[in-house]
Amino acid sequence: MLSKLFKKLVGSTGQNKAEQEEARLEAMVGPPGVWQESRDFQIRFLTQKGLKKNDTVLDIGCGPLRGGVPLIGYLDNGMYVGIDVRSEVIEEAKKQVAKNGLEGKSPRLFATSTFGEEWLKEDRFDYVWCFQVVYHLTDELADKCFARIATLLKPDGVCYCNVNIEGDEGEWKEFPYLKRPLGFYQDLAVKNGLTVSTLGQLKDFGYTDKVPGQFNDMLELRSDCAGK
Ligand SMILES: C[S@@+](CC[C@H](N)C(=O)[O-])C[C@H]1O[C@@H](n2cnc3c(N)ncnc32)[C@H](O)[C@@H]1O
Repeated sequence: MLSKLFKKLVGSTGQNKAEQEEARLEAMVGPPGVWQESRDFQIRFLTQKGLKKNDTVLDIGCGPLRGGVPLIGYLDNGMYVGIDVRSEVIEEAKKQVAKNGLEGKSPRLFATSTFGEEWLKEDRFDYVWCFQVVYHLTDELADKCFARIATLLKPDGVCYCNVNIEGDEGEWKEFPYLKRPLGFYQDLAVKNGLTVSTLGQLKDFGYTDKVPGQFNDMLELRSDCAGK
């Protein structure tokens, strides 16, 4: 009787229901064991960079809202847009909005293979957040992504994206995991009317030391017309 109850609560893996749910979601976005740290990092980084409740945020490659749930909770109604190329994770993201009682914040979530060209025509953003995504893009897609960022930023808006400059290459799910020199991103930025600054590695901003991603560099992109 007791062992039946234990199995019901904890499951055969020894994880409780909440841990199983976290592991299920985390399997959609990356290596295990850093879900909460990665979630906390995203909102902490952006608020340290000045994100205010009434700013508009575009989360490119939002996945099932690991970063998105706290951001939606923090931002005013209607200020968050999340896009992802995988329709199944956008479906999960919508479920997460409901599960976390965030429907009232009216986030907009779109599956798109064009970085939102078909959905985001007039929208312009104070912040574009592109976390753990750019290294999964082929060179052609990275170019397209930077072009879209240039279009979608408000004149004084800012984009933060992390890239892999010195780690190993590999694959993750159906995506490549690419290493490119900083000059590659500088060239893409110039080509697309953006300026780029390197801010340091994720570990310098307190990202977890449990995964190699800590050595990714964070880039800051702005319109090259900003402030003119
Ligand atoms: C490592 S996950 C990170 C997810 C999320 N940013 C987070 O931190 O939890 C990378 C995400 O980028 C998405 N992605 C990959 N290529 C994309 C593309 N061309 N356009 C939009 N999203 C893309 C993947 O589907 C995946 O959800």
